[in-house]
Amino acid sequence: MTNAALYSAPVEEMPKMGIEPEVAYQIVKDETYPQTQPKLNLATFVTTYMDDYATKLMNEAVNVNYIDQTEYPRVAVMCGRCINIIANLWNTPEKSEWKAGAVGIGSSEACMLGGVAALLRWKAKCKAEGKSCSKPNLVTSTAFQVVWEKFCQLWDVEMRTVPISLEHPTLCAEEAIKMCDQNTICIVPVVGVTWTGLNDDVEELDKQLDKFNAKTGYNIPIHVDAASGGFILPFIKPEYKWDFRLKWVWSISTSGHKYGLVYPGLGWVVWRDKKYLPEQMAFSVNYLGANITQVGLNFSRPAAQILGQYYNFIRYGFEGYKQVQSASMDIAKYCHEKIGKMKCFTNYSNSVDNPLFIWYMDKEYDKTAKWTLYDLQAALQQSGWMVPAYTMPKSMEDMVVMRVVVRQGMTKDMADMLLGDIENAVKEFEKLKYPTASRLTYEKREKQFGKVFTH
Ligand SMILES: Cc1ncc(COP(=O)(O)O)c(C=O)c1O
Repeated sequence: MTNAALYSAPVEEMPKMGIEPEVAYQIVKDETYPQTQPKLNLATFVTTYMDDYATKLMNEAVNVNYIDQTEYPRVAVMCGRCINIIANLWNTPEKSEWKAGAVGIGSSEACMLGGVAALLRWKAKCKAEGKSCSKPNLVTSTAFQVVWEKFCQLWDVEMRTVPISLEHPTLCAEEAIKMCDQNTICIVPVVGVTWTGLNDDVEELDKQLDKFNAKTGYNIPIHVDAASGGFILPFIKPEYKWDFRLKWVWSISTSGHKYGLVYPGLGWVVWRDKKYLPEQMAFSVNYLGANITQVGLNFSRPAAQILGQYYNFIRYGFEGYKQVQSASMDIAKYCHEKIGKMKCFTNYSNSVDNPLFIWYMDKEYDKTAKWTLYDLQAALQQSGWMVPAYTMPKSMEDMVVMRVVVRQGMTKDMADMLLGDIENAVKEFEKLKYPTASRLTYEKREKQFGKVFTH
């Protein structure tokens, strides 16, 4: 019998002999105990709650590989249905039975696919016009998610970024257009900006781009990164135009594992029509009783997430999704209002566009404070919460903010507990006679480099 208490977990090499499964289980399980409880992790956008039937369904499919479509053809059919449902949520004009789209492991893969399609379309256009295919570029704001940096580096695309600021907290359409030229493969606005929770104004961008394209003949399209907003706006603000109702929106990506309400490992990308999906990226299978187009960077991938997504569509329906998203919005707005009323904080924006928001230390309060938002993050961690403090992206990198992401499973009661914990932490900070270490670092930097955290 292995004495579990004396067992050292392997770090470098595989142990020579195995041990009993229950002991191995416990060793691995014990490693996870000091981690944040997923429900209290307000840093993540990713689903931390699904109901028992969803969990059962996904667990039962844990050994199914999505790519084995001959063996599991119904999974592929359900995947196609999910793409259809999502395309229709985003007001696709495509009339064919199976809409042009793809499943990804997350928004990152979905964004990459949208980006690659834009790059290949641009290359085809250059070739057709007899122009050189070098130096493609992509335009977005400085508040891009890191996947766009990865895309640009991996595919050798120049990244052009429009700075965001307190005056222009989202992508400025006019400035974005100024950065475009004949080598621009697409503009990427974000609905549900990772850093702020706000929405870039896609409608305004589309309007200005339409004029620009008419004048130049460049036909630059828009890929909307709707990692969070893609499953919020259709339910919360259906009248708000950001999707395929806009002429130049040729592709949209989202995370099924964020507000699509599925556990981690799921993203979606949809094209306006098959003609915007380059043939080199697609292969068709015809053994499913229909022609289903398949696109992806990965080959093998879990089928369970697709089943979870399709289950959620059936289980919640449109009204159910609306209810879940409205509850998250209401709780985010409730926290936003309470935080905004605390004298030590200022909300970044008056509006809450998606169920997340950020705030910073009030400018006046900051002058005499003996603590920083990093201290607050650490204090909240002691009660189990993960509420991240971070510096804003390039162009606002001197500003430290804190963010709360509200997801299904966060109740009003939990919000009150969090707000209570924030208030208590602030009360304790206000009793401090001396500045905290993080405050001292901040002041040292301020002395050295001038004002560090601008507001
Ligand atoms: C706007 C945006 N795009 C892309 C991503 C990447 O998403 P994923 O983690 O699903 O790959 C995120 C993740 O937070 C995001 O917020």
